[in-house]
Amino acid sequence: MPQTQHPAAGLLFVLLLIWLLFPEGEYPNQSLALSDLAAERLARYHDALDVLNQTRWGDFAPRTGQEEDATTAQYVNLTGFREQDGFAWEDLGQFREKGLELSRHAIPPVRGEQRWDTAQGEAVWVNASGTLRGGWVRRPGSVSRAYGSYNLNRSVPSMQWIGDKVDWARNITGGTGRMMIRLEGNKTVTTYDEHAEGSSPLSGGMIRNVKGIAMIEDTTGSGLNWEMRLWGVHWPRQGVILMTTTSEKFEGIFGLPHLTPSADFFQSSQRLLNQTLNGVVAKKQKNIYIDQNMPWNSDVDNPLYTAYPSPHCEFVMYAQVHPPIRQGLDKGSLDLGTEHMEDVIHAIESELQNPEGAPIRSVPRLQMSAVIYSPDCAFFLETKGPPDFPPSEADHLVGMKTEVHTHQVKTWMLVYALVVFAQVRLLKNQMKESFTPSTMGRISFWTISAMVVVDGMTFTAAATWVSSAAATFLPTLALMFASFLSMTIGGSFLAKIHEVQAPESRGRREQGQSSSSDASGATSSATSAPLTPNPTGPILPGPVTASRSLLQHPSQPVIVPSDQDIDAEIAEAASAVPRTTTATPSPRQAQTRTQTRTQTQTFQAIVGRFILFSLCVSFLAISSTTWYPRARAFFLNLCAAVYLSLWLPQICRNTLRNCRRALRWHFVVGQSVLRLLPVAYFWVKDDNFLYARPDRQAFALLCAWVWLQIVVLAAQEVVGPRFGVPRGWTPEVWDYHPLLREDNVEAGGLPIGLGADETAAAAITRRGSTSSTVEKRGSISGGGGAHVRVIDCAICREVLEVPVVKAGDDDGSRVASVFARRLYMVTPCRHIFHTACLEGWMRFRLQCPICREDLPPI
Ligand SMILES: *[C@@H]1O[C@H](CO)[C@@H](O)[C@H](O)[C@H]1NC(C)=O
Ligand SMILES: *[C@@H]1O[C@H](CO)[C@@H](O)[C@H](O)[C@H]1NC(C)=O
Ligand SMILES: *[C@@H]1O[C@H](CO)[C@@H](O)[C@H](O)[C@H]1NC(C)=O
Ligand SMILES: *[C@@H]1O[C@H](CO)[C@@H](O)[C@H](O)[C@H]1NC(C)=O
Ligand SMILES: *[C@@H]1O[C@H](CO)[C@@H](O)[C@H](O)[C@H]1NC(C)=O
Ligand SMILES: *[C@@H]1O[C@H](CO)[C@@H](O)[C@H](O)[C@H]1NC(C)=O
Ligand SMILES: *[C@@H]1O[C@H](CO)[C@@H](O)[C@H](O)[C@H]1NC(C)=O
Ligand SMILES: *[C@@H]1O[C@H](CO)[C@@H](O)[C@H](O)[C@H]1NC(C)=O
Ligand SMILES: [Zn+2]
Ligand SMILES: [Zn+2]
Repeated sequence: MPQTQHPAAGLLFVLLLIWLLFPEGEYPNQSLALSDLAAERLARYHDALDVLNQTRWGDFAPRTGQEEDATTAQYVNLTGFREQDGFAWEDLGQFREKGLELSRHAIPPVRGEQRWDTAQGEAVWVNASGTLRGGWVRRPGSVSRAYGSYNLNRSVPSMQWIGDKVDWARNITGGTGRMMIRLEGNKTVTTYDEHAEGSSPLSGGMIRNVKGIAMIEDTTGSGLNWEMRLWGVHWPRQGVILMTTTSEKFEGIFGLPHLTPSADFFQSSQRLLNQTLNGVVAKKQKNIYIDQNMPWNSDVDNPLYTAYPSPHCEFVMYAQVHPPIRQGLDKGSLDLGTEHMEDVIHAIESELQNPEGAPIRSVPRLQMSAVIYSPDCAFFLETKGPPDFPPSEADHLVGMKTEVHTHQVKTWMLVYALVVFAQVRLLKNQMKESFTPSTMGRISFWTISAMVVVDGMTFTAAATWVSSAAATFLPTLALMFASFLSMTIGGSFLAKIHEVQAPESRGRREQGQSSSSDASGATSSATSAPLTPNPTGPILPGPVTASRSLLQHPSQPVIVPSDQDIDAEIAEAASAVPRTTTATPSPRQAQTRTQTRTQTQTFQAIVGRFILFSLCVSFLAISSTTWYPRARAFFLNLCAAVYLSLWLPQICRNTLRNCRRALRWHFVVGQSVLRLLPVAYFWVKDDNFLYARPDRQAFALLCAWVWLQIVVLAAQEVVGPRFGVPRGWTPEVWDYHPLLREDNVEAGGLPIGLGADETAAAAITRRGSTSSTVEKRGSISGGGGAHVRVIDCAICREVLEVPVVKAGDDDGSRVASVFARRLYMVTPCRHIFHTACLEGWMRFRLQCPICREDLPPI
């Protein structure tokens, strides 16, 4: 790992700290300036409240396009509602009509009688808190307005406008798109007497405050997502919600009653708003030095008072909640039906709010239709649905109530926690199997780290969320616990793997050093240069044809003990009791011992890098919510693709080390499925709780990608890890399953016990070891191009039949013999065993069972 990464990473961390430790508003002067600003704004709000208090229904009667009669037009003295502001109020009538049309369509007339107008229509949800999504279509207003139509310097002279002479923000230009609305109603419902007689429609006698966040995706136009806060009122009996944005150039919330459909709505909303707005302004006035957030601010990104605002298009939204239950409508007993439905809805809502175990089969969806009107940018956004569009194509805004949403989040969090528990189980089983250095050496460090990093991120997210997770506290705790287990168990496994594999990179470096020091003729100590091939490294001894060099290796190398740490060496030798046959520690032991001294630090460095990496990814992911939708989708897909490439390092490692299988199939398949499940939830499920847009195509690709990796892993086990990989690409590695040929006898290629007697004997005497356990039983000639020779396996003492290709025979049966060759294994010291026997042996010891020569790992 290059150490040069540290300065950049450190700098990033310091910047992050600075950013976290020095919030804005630290400086008293700025704070003073802000409170001055706040005082000025609050004074303006007081004026606006007076206007709200004193105006009546009909005081705001802006010019309509047709009449051209300026004398009857009336305006109110609120920013944005004045004549001089030049807003496109010509379309206000159209907005009201459209709203009424939506309401009357949602609650249709019964026997030709428009019951909605008299507040006797079908019952709707009393509590409209929830989240809804749906499509919108844009319709231009009857007049057109551009930024050039406004002189903000004149209409709002106290502000220094920035960017008012370019396209304004929130200017929706696309023809169609999607939007999301999150509504939150006030708990308190105020009841009132319906005053305005003769006014139609009636408002139903109940009202409450409501606030909402609307997110409008303008993919076909500006390509941006616009998010805004709206404030307003909700008439629960009628299911009408009216909300507006409020900003420096539009005192929407104060003028809201003038935008209602009738005098009855006007009076009720005026009274409620007069009361609640007064309360908010008084509270802001009291906390003027502490609370620097503007009240009713529509701009999500800039909540503070500012003298330098930038203009946004303003919006007014009229929404109609649809009746949740559509049965018994056209029956004769309508009155009874309406009452019955009200009871049912009331029962459902109270059960949702205070669960007492009442039997509710399923909670109907929350549905709304809405029209959004921009009085300054002069356009309409209407939700897509009947009557303008067939219900099969689009059905306005659909979503779920907050309680249902919470319930879903809880359920899915629990499911996720279970998935993580299952991952932990698989990991534990794998660890049980791979506990020897030899088996751990096969596992790719990066495959396991991908899992651990993602589990760590899950843990961090859950731990961050748990403090603010009111209703979802217990599921979050379960998820936190599960991912903590997964992270720590995976981390400990990773540490062990790192410990085993650390000599690899070091060995690679030392190989280079020793080759350069060979030239100077320096005698190297046992600790600094490997005498024997590095047991766990990819630098492996040459192929079978290079057996002469192998034969030169002494089976009991002469050890020059390192002089600096003899005590430890003795202790090590004493602890190695099972290996009493080696009187002195092998060079491998000495080597790993010196390496363990440095590697704890290295692993910590890697963990630090992982943490930094996941931090960066998290920050990117959080900031991606404000990106262009396409960029965000690309980023998220990329993250998922990188995460789900987790078997790729394992495939590479298998190829490099010529290892056929490192992980249990249970582990590979189980982990793939379990790790795809959470991705599937967000990429496939339409109403997932994060409201992420599903992307089934991308998910299909991701699945195919994971499947492909598993297929490659399977192929590596069946036809060999280097099948189809060009020879030059991979380091040479010992081939345990060589094709045995009779004409190799002269080269000393046939394993001991199979070749001609004299060759074997010569080899034995040269090596000075005994091979009495290998007993030549003779040979039987087989049919086709191969003899089958028979020998005893030294491990299980069963017969081992070895096919040997006749001298001079072609490679005709090469492919067929791939599987025959799998049955035996030939070691570099030319001993032959059953594959199963030697593989079982090598899980514990990388030494030849006969002559104790070190074996290259598989
Ligand atoms: C504080 O800011 C005001 C302008 O808002 C400036 O006139 C004044 O000099 C500043 N005071 C200090 C101490 O910086
Ligand atoms: C509101 O208007 C009423 C008259 O309609 C007046 O008596 C009252 O003082 C006003 N309140 C405020 C706070 O201006
Ligand atoms: C409108 O209100 C402002 C204060 O907000 C006041 O200064 C101005 O005189 C009023 N204009 C009219 C025409 O009443
Ligand atoms: C909104 O966009 C349209 C089309 O690009 C443009 O003509 C108009 O001037 C914009 N309006 C504002 C207020 O920026
Ligand atoms: C805005 O109005 C101020 C005076 O209120 C004036 O000094 C300034 O030049 C005007 N700016 C523009 C761009 O009209
Ligand atoms: C809810 O409404 C009541 C009066 O209707 C008001 O006092 C309270 O501040 C409101 N709460 C919120 C969070 O808006
Ligand atoms: C409406 O639902 C919200 C969200 O669960 C809840 O906080 C609120 O108390 C409910 N209000 C009423 C009047 O039921
Ligand atoms: C508005 O509120 C004030 C005091 O908060 C009250 O005196 C006044 O009567 C209210 N006006 C209306 C129209 O309700
Ligand atoms: Zn055997
Ligand atoms: Zn051997």
